[in-house]
This record gives sequence, structure tokens and C-alpha cells, in this order.
Amino acid sequence: MIYKLLIEETKMTHLLAVNSSPNLSSSVSRDLVGQFAASFKEKAAGNTVTFRDVGQNPLPHLDEKTIGAFYTPADQRNEEQKKAIALSDELVDEIIAADTLVIGAPMHNFGTSSHLKSYLDHIARVGRTFSYTEQGPKGLLGGKKVFVITARGGIYSDGPASHMDIQVPYLKTVFSFVGIEDVAFIHTEGLNMGDENREKAIEAAVHSISSSVSGLAA
Ligand SMILES: Cc1cc2nc3c(=O)[nH]c(=O)nc-3n(C[C@H](O)[C@H](O)[C@H](O)COP(=O)(O)O)c2cc1C
Repeated sequence: MIYKLLIEETKMTHLLAVNSSPNLSSSVSRDLVGQFAASFKEKAAGNTVTFRDVGQNPLPHLDEKTIGAFYTPADQRNEEQKKAIALSDELVDEIIAADTLVIGAPMHNFGTSSHLKSYLDHIARVGRTFSYTEQGPKGLLGGKKVFVITARGGIYSDGPASHMDIQVPYLKTVFSFVGIEDVAFIHTEGLNMGDENREKAIEAAVHSISSSVSGLAA
């Protein structure tokens, strides 16, 4: 029992930090993901972080060859299919190795950046992150925690534009599909609504990041 408790207490030790803003010089989400990762590392000596930057290094769209390889059983893939699937396998391995994820999610046209969409297309993998069962699809990544740090020009968490937010339902649905139900959003909103709003939004997000990291088990 004590042994079990010790394992649970020290579980949150590896963070995967995903950036998906194509803005490399003044991105808000990129900056906040960096702050989250730095706090996470400082929190405990054994904490480690892997960075994946699909904003700086965009992933290719899925093509016919790659999708064909996804749906070919691993032991039947030919060399060309193995090559086509290698990047996706690497991305899935990264997620499996992490117990916590932080995702930087700029809002682009009411949803995620296409960079993040492409990332999610690569990690939603039959046989690796979900499986088909007689009861329907079953997610295989249970037990992980995801923090999504959004950056948005307008305000969607409340008020007249809230129905236009397709970012939150989309991300919740995809993570749930791969078995991750524990998804927390840290919104940075109203960034294009004047300097004062912008500063307040960033300050509130920094505060949320600090309490979110403090609340993690390790
Ligand atoms: C291509 C593009 C589309 C955008 N679409 C929206 C949008 O639909 N709604 C919104 O509130 N802000 C929108 N914005 C503003 C961004 O959400 C805002 O600049 C945010 O800071 C982007 O995150 P980043 O700073 O991490 O890149 C858009 C910005 C860009 C570049």
C-alpha cells in the first residue's frame, strides 16, 4: 500500500511540451509553454521535459501512403510503409513516454493552427493510441494529463462570441478519443483587444500556469 502510494506520488515526472504557433518571434502561447516547462522542471529534481515544435517544424499532411501504412498491421508493413510511418511512430512514442502534456494552441480562424491539427492527425493512430472494439473506438492513452494553453485575439470563454469557439470542443474530443479525459484549458484571451487587456490576460495565464504546476503530483 505504501509502495503504491509512493508510485502515485512520484508519477508526474515527464512532460511533453508541444508548440504549434508558426510565430517564432513574438508568440504568446510559445512563451507561456516555455514558462510552464521551466516551472515543471524546477518543481522536482527528477522532472524532465521533451519539446516538440510543430510550429517551427511543420509536419507533412497525411498522404495516401501514410494512411495506408497506419491501417496495415505492423508485422505486414513493407519497407516503404515503415518509412512512411516512422515520423508518426516517433510522435506517438513521445506521447506514450510522457505522463503530462502541455500544448501551446494559438487560435487560428476559430480553431487550432493547421500545425496542431496535423500533429493530432499523426498521433491519432489505430493500434497505438486507440483501438476499434465491438463497443466502438477505445482510447489507449488513459492516465495522462493535458494542459492546453490557448492564445486568442478575442474572447470566447464567455460572452457573445463563445459559440464561435471550435478549439475547445475539438481538442477535448480528440484527446478523449485517444483516452485522455483529463484536459485542462488555460486561456489567454483578448490579446488583440488593446494593451491593457493583453497584459491582464497574460498575467492571468502566468498565474494559472503557476498554480497548475504546483497542483501536479511530483
Ligand atoms: C492566421 C491567424 C488566424 C487567427 N484567427 C483568429 C481567430 O479566429 N480568433 C481570434 O480571436 N484570434 C485569431 N487570431 C489571433 C491569434 O489568436 C493571436 O494572435 C494569438 O496570439 C496567436 O497565438 P500565438 O501568439 O501563440 O501565435 C489569428 C491569428 C492568425 C495569425
